[in-house]
Parts: sequence; structure tokens; C-alpha cells
Amino acid sequence: MKTAIVSAMREELAAVLALLPDEQCQRVAGRDFWVGHLHGQEVVAVLARIGKVAAATTATLLAERFRVDRVVFTGVAGGIGSGVSVGDAVVANAFLQHDMDASPLFPRHEVPLYGMSRFEADPALRDALVQAARQALPHAQVHEGLIVSGDRFVSSSAEVRALRAALPDVLAVEMEGAAFAQVCHDFDLPFAAVRTISDRADEAAHRDFLQFVRTVASPASAAIVQALLAA
Ligand code: ADE
Repeated sequence: MKTAIVSAMREELAAVLALLPDEQCQRVAGRDFWVGHLHGQEVVAVLARIGKVAAATTATLLAERFRVDRVVFTGVAGGIGSGVSVGDAVVANAFLQHDMDASPLFPRHEVPLYGMSRFEADPALRDALVQAARQALPHAQVHEGLIVSGDRFVSSSAEVRALRAALPDVLAVEMEGAAFAQVCHDFDLPFAAVRTISDRADEAAHRDFLQFVRTVASPASAAIVQALLAA
């Protein structure tokens, strides 16, 4: 079983890379893929970079070039659901591209020619991530639900209101998950994601963002990945 461990930002991946005893770097399409082991399991750790296209390139390479068996994304997200606070973790049960809109040709949010707007997380991998997050972060609340992605850092209460009006069950927003979910769907690869909430996607979203990623989110990602692969 070869597991891909993916993050969008260097700071998020740093703590995971520090856990690999034997990683070898392969550079493909401008990305460093770190191939090694964690708890005796084969892993490929990679920085996807930010946004849906960068995510799709990375996911395609993991499927076709690195032949992974499953993909786990760890990173940060803006909390949008009521009760989703900074420091909580959100495990996705489904992903949607909030900026996909080919209406009136297709319903808003539907990915054209797929006939669907929501891509489900793999149920077994998602459940394993929930367990791992609960174990790794015993003091954090762990939510499960809809994560939406788009090529925009959301940083206004007005946009949060619009997202909640359009998608009442949304919990968190980020910039890669739904692209990974679509590519993994294409390749029939199990995919799941866990995000630590770094901000509330409001006017203060960018404040202390990098500091939070370094001090809270990166160690949280590493602890969840450890718990997942040790299980
Ligand atoms: N990732 C973390 N916070 C985010 C936000 N507010 N918008 C989009 N992606 C994010």
C-alpha cells in the first residue's frame, strides 16, 4: 500500500518530511516528490503548491508516475460553518468547487460532463483520518462534512455569507481539495483530506496566517499523518 501525503505549502509539509527516515527526492514538473517510508509503509510526500490547477497536476503525477494506492491531503482551511473555529480540524466527507459555474448550460457548481458537483471522500480513508485526528489532537474539535475549494483566498464576511447561502452545509474553504477529488475520481484512487482551521475566512483571515501554519498546523499535520500510518 503506497500512500501519497500531500500539502499545499512548504511549512505544512516540513514536519511530515522530518518524520521520513530514508526519503529520496525525485523532481518532476517542478515539484519535489519525496519517496520513502513511514512506520514501515511506503509513502510519497509532495508539495502540491496552491490552487486547483497545481493540485490537478500533482494528483495526476501521483496516479500515473508514482502509482500510489491512496492520497491523503493535510493542510489548512478557512472555517465557514457555524461552530467551526480556529484550531479545529475538518475531515471532508465531500468536496465541491465553489467557483465552478457553467450556468445556464449546466447547474451552478456542477462539473460539466461529470453530471455531479460533489465528489465524495473515500469512506474508509475518511474514517481512518477522523480517528487519526481525534488521537493526534485530543483537545481539538474534529468535524466531518463538506469542504469547498476555489482559486481564491476567501477573506471577507460578505463572501462567507454568499458561500453559506449557496451551500448551507459547508464547513470549510480552501484551494485544492476538490481538484484532487476530481482527479482521484478519474483515476479511481481513494482520496481523503483533513484541514486544520487557520482562520474564519473573514477580513482578519490573512493576519498571523503563516505564523499559524508554522506553529500549529504543521505539527498537527505531522501528528495526524503519524497516527494514520501507525494505525
Ligand atoms: N486556506 C486557509 N484559509 C483559507 C481561506 N480563507 N480561503 C481559501 N483558502 C484558505
